[in-house]
Amino acid sequence: MTQAETTSETKIYLPSDAFVANAAVSGMAAYEALCAKAEADYEGYWADLARELISWKTPFTTALDESNAPFFKWFADGTLNASYNCLDRNVERGLGDKTAIIFEADGGEVTKITYSELLAKTCQIANGLRSIGIGKGDRVVIYISMSIEGVAAMQACARIGATHSVVFGGFSAQSLRDRIEDTGAKAVITADCQVRGGKKLALKSIVDEALAMPGCEKIEKVLVVNRADAPVTMVEGRDVWMNDLTAGQATTCEPEWVSAEHPLFLLYTSGSTGKPKGVQHSTGGYLLHAALTTKWTFDLKADDVFWCTADIGWVTGHTYITYGPLALGGTEIVFEGVPTYPDAGRFWKMIQDHKVSIFYTAPTAIRSLIKAAEANDAVHPKSYDLTSLRLLGSVGEPINPAAWEWYYKHVGGSRCPIADTFWQTETGGHMITPLPGVTPMVPGSCTLPFPGIQAAIVDETGKDVPNGQGGILVVKKPWPSMIRTIWGDGERFVKSYYPADFQGKYYLAGDGAIRDAKTGYFTITGRIDDVLNVSGHRMGTMEIESALVSCTELVAEAAVVGRPDDTTGEAVCAFVVLKRPLPVGDEAKAIAKQLRDHVGKEIGPIAKPKDIRFGENLPKTRSGKIMRRLLRSLAKGEEITQDTSTLENPTILSQLGQAY
Ligand code: PRX
Repeated sequence: MTQAETTSETKIYLPSDAFVANAAVSGMAAYEALCAKAEADYEGYWADLARELISWKTPFTTALDESNAPFFKWFADGTLNASYNCLDRNVERGLGDKTAIIFEADGGEVTKITYSELLAKTCQIANGLRSIGIGKGDRVVIYISMSIEGVAAMQACARIGATHSVVFGGFSAQSLRDRIEDTGAKAVITADCQVRGGKKLALKSIVDEALAMPGCEKIEKVLVVNRADAPVTMVEGRDVWMNDLTAGQATTCEPEWVSAEHPLFLLYTSGSTGKPKGVQHSTGGYLLHAALTTKWTFDLKADDVFWCTADIGWVTGHTYITYGPLALGGTEIVFEGVPTYPDAGRFWKMIQDHKVSIFYTAPTAIRSLIKAAEANDAVHPKSYDLTSLRLLGSVGEPINPAAWEWYYKHVGGSRCPIADTFWQTETGGHMITPLPGVTPMVPGSCTLPFPGIQAAIVDETGKDVPNGQGGILVVKKPWPSMIRTIWGDGERFVKSYYPADFQGKYYLAGDGAIRDAKTGYFTITGRIDDVLNVSGHRMGTMEIESALVSCTELVAEAAVVGRPDDTTGEAVCAFVVLKRPLPVGDEAKAIAKQLRDHVGKEIGPIAKPKDIRFGENLPKTRSGKIMRRLLRSLAKGEEITQDTSTLENPTILSQLGQAY
């Protein structure tokens, strides 16, 4: 039975005795022993785990190579193949007939694929890629929706040593172009369309649009999966149907054995400048942490049905769909659709139908489903049988205690521990998280570092701050699944993550955090740079500003800040100076729509500002710097208490008070 106890300050939730007894890491003493082992022999700790969880073609002799810090290398003289580890190895262990993926399409159709079948499919794609001249060291951009083909395409790239770069299907042609150019990819894998919320949304035509722009000249082939017979234009000599490419291919394919340091993938994420960063991950260290965290944080067992609701276009989908669960031989759900279609009970129905036992989603989804459930019993979790669940997870943004409690009670039946996992695209896998059979949980806190991760909170000079006092989140030692570099820009990598402020010694996460005075638990207090987190999606304020000012016929100047939002966590709020007189009423609304559409086109719908405010100028200091703090207060609707005496024209504050 789960016990919940109340102390004078915080409510603490304990995992049940039964859960603890069966957990991969069982009890606080076991956790502490792992941490102590890592403390005593850091390299030996990771090396032992790497030998236990990964099959190596050639064993490594050195765990960590710090000779070119902060470009750390792990297991560098070992060779392996990620796809072999995720597929062949499971078939060889006798799991060939086990279901690897249960795919549920937007419309509800279910397709299951076993490990043997997924291996065969992956091999056919891999052979197809080889047949068109793709091989080790080439980059392949994947622009596809949630599908078995998407996972298999990633696995196929890994199999032949090609580095994949998945671009989320919600990004625009312009964003896709930028990523294609930066990766220097030779091929794109896409589909005719994606189906979400009952609608067919184009993919292939967006690829066509991107490839028509300058910068994509290196693309030789576009492979097109036929998802739903949507009309597409196939360019002679360049575009090939995936089915035609794979039809005659053998269902076996010798893996390319690569160094542990070989780049498995590039994944673009937002930073504090306008240009997204191509985060480069390794093969060996990354796969180790993907497998290890799936084992320890998610406690994945042979008969579990695991469901991570993230998209493969984000890092969560990479680590906890394509790599982690498959590396352990698990059975997982891949879902094409959206949580609110055909109604907001979709997640609960799918948990019931597939007897999902481990469920991992984002606070934004939970918050929006709470609203829907409170308005309509039919889509409330209580209307479904969710007794198959034994563990829940949360990722991507802080989970507010009220949403945590609801998730715990109504989805987890007050029975399932919640792993509030803090991590980032750059970290490859979980960094700070409760382990379900170990950690007493406090809603809203991601609790303690994963064993071996040396997370700490420091001040601007790199000095440790005492518990109870907020500061800057850092990681003091390199870890196997960490970012290796920013693709093509080592200097930016060093500047962003190993800044001179900390003598280049600590990894800078970019988040603020505080440790509880008594328990030492971590709570993330939010980004300390110009990065917003909207619905768990990371966005740079400068990226959105650049998109706005690229609307040159209308926009003279723009500044973007975040403001709290009940559902999406943060919302994008844009302050815009137009090249025309200040609009009001319907005219302002129409221009705001035009600007939103423009941002949608430049970046993607997820970046569209929720609020747009117009002014004849932006509030600036005497030296001409935009007063962002003031903008944040305006965005929140707060009373302005800051000193505004330096403002050239204080009336702009009242202009900027109106959101469209
Ligand atoms: O601010 C933190 C927040 O999301 C950022 C990382 O975003 P991204 O690279 O897109 O990866 C998201 C999925 C791993 C972090 O810098 N974040 C992520 N998880 C949490 C979180 N904030 C609070 N609590 C979390 N559990």
